[in-house]
Amino acid sequence: MPAGRLDVPALILGAGAAGMMCAAHAGTGALVVDHMPVPGEKIRISGGGRCNFTNLHTAPENFLSDNPHFAKSALSRYTQWDFIDLVQRHGIAWHEKTLGQLFCDGSARQIIDLLTAEIAAAGSELWLDTHVGEIAHDGHRFTVTLTRGGRETQVRTPALVVATGGKSIPKIGATGLGYRIAAQFGLPLVPTRPALVPLTFGDSFTDLSGVAVNARIAANGAAFDEALLFTHRGLSGPAILQASSYWSEGGEIAVTLCPGTDLPGTLRAERGRAGRRDVATVLGELIPKRLAEHLTVAAGVTGRLADLSDARLAALGTQLADWRLRPTGTEGYRKAEVTAGGVSTAALSSRSMESTVPGLFFVGEVVDVTGWLGGYNFQWAWSSGWAAGQAI
Ligand code: FDA
Repeated sequence: MPAGRLDVPALILGAGAAGMMCAAHAGTGALVVDHMPVPGEKIRISGGGRCNFTNLHTAPENFLSDNPHFAKSALSRYTQWDFIDLVQRHGIAWHEKTLGQLFCDGSARQIIDLLTAEIAAAGSELWLDTHVGEIAHDGHRFTVTLTRGGRETQVRTPALVVATGGKSIPKIGATGLGYRIAAQFGLPLVPTRPALVPLTFGDSFTDLSGVAVNARIAANGAAFDEALLFTHRGLSGPAILQASSYWSEGGEIAVTLCPGTDLPGTLRAERGRAGRRDVATVLGELIPKRLAEHLTVAAGVTGRLADLSDARLAALGTQLADWRLRPTGTEGYRKAEVTAGGVSTAALSSRSMESTVPGLFFVGEVVDVTGWLGGYNFQWAWSSGWAAGQAI
């Protein structure tokens, strides 16, 4: 079959959160394509199937980037309130779970349906099961070879938006195509790494697998008070996922168990009251029993409270309040919720997301802007997708 030709005002690569948002707000209408058979796979699996679609407290401080100011423009022009308004206009019921995190009452599919309805209303078109081939540029227009249903089409466009996401979870469509396009056009890349990802510790914690406790986890100057979960391979839970985005390979994390509770003080007071009690038993009333046993043995502080000197209780106290751990690594892109790093903001306009190559835009996770856990990454996808949509 001969290759077809098609001219479109804008072509968007990737029908994920950012690409669909861009197509829904493209003034000119756009063609948005994806290699998967369905759009928005990450939206579908997000937030345990209920999609944590934004966060009430979204602010530029909740994002990591080589340029911490870059996200300000898009986030302030299309805010969490704008997206909440869109959700309400579509009659989608939602609730705040915790820490400003908004979820659908029903299903994440409602957000995908919202976006596909908005795409149709904007006069944009969605092609699925579409392979993206060669991308050529004559200085004015891009020509992209697309293959759909065995048929090749040369699509010409003055505006090419790259919304192909990061490298996380390849089994639902991540490919790293966006980074290759940036490299093809000579745009700078900030090295990528898995973020919002469990940290590994060899087999150090296998005896604790399944234990959960409240903790403050600090890494590279950032600290998060949330749940910490021990797994077969290491540490997970929201506090660890948040800190993982700041952790750098070879570095330490600092764990404070039960922040706000004076665990060593409680142990000293209990020694005065009931010195015959075993230290692990007393500690096991404050933190999970298995963890209490693990920590007392690891600190070499075991036996009756009355037999433990102030110095030995202080040693245990340090373990509880400032437990220094060095991860061996992360669970990698297979488990990471997002990819940190990406197309350098130095090459992008913060207002339109257009790159230094006129007509070439990058939106969403492919850009070196990474949100905290809690709906921030989708808000970045909505805000950056909207910003490019206004410009094409
Ligand atoms: P996204 O990955 O959504 O979309 C990229 C699209 O490009 C995909 O549809 C993909 O198929 C397509 N594509 C890739 N390569 C291609 C190629 N070569 N050819 C054609 N198409 C290609 N965030 C949040 O704020 N709240 C939450 O609840 C969650 N929950 C969550 C759970 C899990 C398990 C994960 C993995 C991630 C989250 N996230 C999240 C993060 C959030 O999903 C993510 O930040 C956004 O989906 C990023 O949106 P993008 O559109 O940039 O990429």
